[in-house]
Amino acid sequence: MAEYSQSLLELLEKRCPGEIPMHMPGHKRNKNLAPYLKRLSADIDITEIDGFDNLQRASGILLESMKNAAKLYGSYRTFFMVNGSTGGILSAVHALTMPGDTAIIARNCHMSVFHAVALRRLKAHYIDPEYDHNFEVVASMSPYAIEKALIKYPNTRLVVVTSPTYEGVISDIPKIAEIVHAHGAVLLVDEAHGSHLDRSPYFTGGAINAGADIVIHSLHKTMPSLTQTAIAHVATAKKSQRFVEALETYQSTSPSYLLLASIDACIRLVIEKGDDLFLNWHNALNAFDESVASLKNLSVLCHGNDSLDKHPGFFSFDKGKLFISTLDTDLSGPELMDLLREKYKIEAEMASSKAVLCMTGLGDTAYNLNQLAYALNDIDGQIKLAARRDSVINMPSLEISMTIAEAEERPWREIPLAESLGQVSGEYIMAYPPGVPLSIPGAIITEDTLSCFELRRDNGVKLKFSRSRDSSSVAVL
Ligand SMILES: Cc1ncc(COP(=O)(O)O)c(C=O)c1O
Repeated sequence: MAEYSQSLLELLEKRCPGEIPMHMPGHKRNKNLAPYLKRLSADIDITEIDGFDNLQRASGILLESMKNAAKLYGSYRTFFMVNGSTGGILSAVHALTMPGDTAIIARNCHMSVFHAVALRRLKAHYIDPEYDHNFEVVASMSPYAIEKALIKYPNTRLVVVTSPTYEGVISDIPKIAEIVHAHGAVLLVDEAHGSHLDRSPYFTGGAINAGADIVIHSLHKTMPSLTQTAIAHVATAKKSQRFVEALETYQSTSPSYLLLASIDACIRLVIEKGDDLFLNWHNALNAFDESVASLKNLSVLCHGNDSLDKHPGFFSFDKGKLFISTLDTDLSGPELMDLLREKYKIEAEMASSKAVLCMTGLGDTAYNLNQLAYALNDIDGQIKLAARRDSVINMPSLEISMTIAEAEERPWREIPLAESLGQVSGEYIMAYPPGVPLSIPGAIITEDTLSCFELRRDNGVKLKFSRSRDSSSVAVL
């Protein structure tokens, strides 16, 4: 293995020039063919040729790199993926279930989990997490709610939980894992937003060493790695074997070596310089905290004046997330997002009805966070306090009349949204981001569902319908 102590990127740079490529890809590493090929580093964009290993049957440099990652994260096995957490979640659900199995799914899971439920024809029971009325945000998943569901559905094979959430809320994974295993089921944690957790004392609460069976990370969300790069951590040999088989179904047979080199380099960077980098990030966030402590109108979840102890529904919180609430002001989330972009050149991650989410990552500098704090203070001085509208639950419970798979196979028709109360949805409806569906095929459209749509629309949040062509109508069965 010693020959692989160099990084994948170094190997690509060393080996690629001078060879005559009689293999894919068709640009033939000829960066002189067109300027875009040079800019996109086509000279090191190869396929699985001799000396570069094979992701599906790794035995060389990729295996060594995945072993390094497993050591870093303390997992039994770690797998590299080039189709984001989406590919990892589809593969993990496939690996951990048989078709038609029963599953308990946290209501606030990402679309990819619902797609996996459909593909495996699972009988899913959706459990609502706690709710934080203070910030009107979904809180942690209660271990006891999961236990109750496991008692009610004793044949459950799989439990899926998202932790941290998009907004940064962490659930009690050690307790959840203990309960799930005591009931003979397995636990998948969608930790897409938490690949930085437990790599330093400053960001904790990760699932890998807390008993989860599979943990999925979008490396690209918070760590310095290219978009689409993700890793999966699997707890046992048997599950690893099933995961590898499932990955063959959901992942390209031609993985991008640019993406693989990015994962390899990111892992190496954390091993070599993680201590300093995490400390810098933490210090920049602390300075941000101090600068936003005097905000009068806006508030930042678990930052500045706000703190974890004010949120009884939170088990823990990832300080890397900056969820800025406009709840008690005359400003909507999309209005704040536009202001940040237009006046301060700050592009936020997402706007919901009354909040904006700014994501931080290992690549952030103190300057970035300073600028954001300056902008928030400036805006805060110009807006007014306004009475909060009546509290609306942001995420309606799912009342299911049939499985997603059954619903997808039925004929459907489009009707005006205003006439859809009580009908069974024939489609996914969501705001993207965050990609958590407000309704799914087979769910009943309730008053709560409709008021959630209305709330978003009134505040300028666009909804995405998977079937109907026009957002004033909806596909029903
Ligand atoms: C909680 C969660 N899980 C999974 C995903 C999918 O991740 P990816 O975009 O890496 O496929 C997302 C994407 O935003 C997400 O927010």
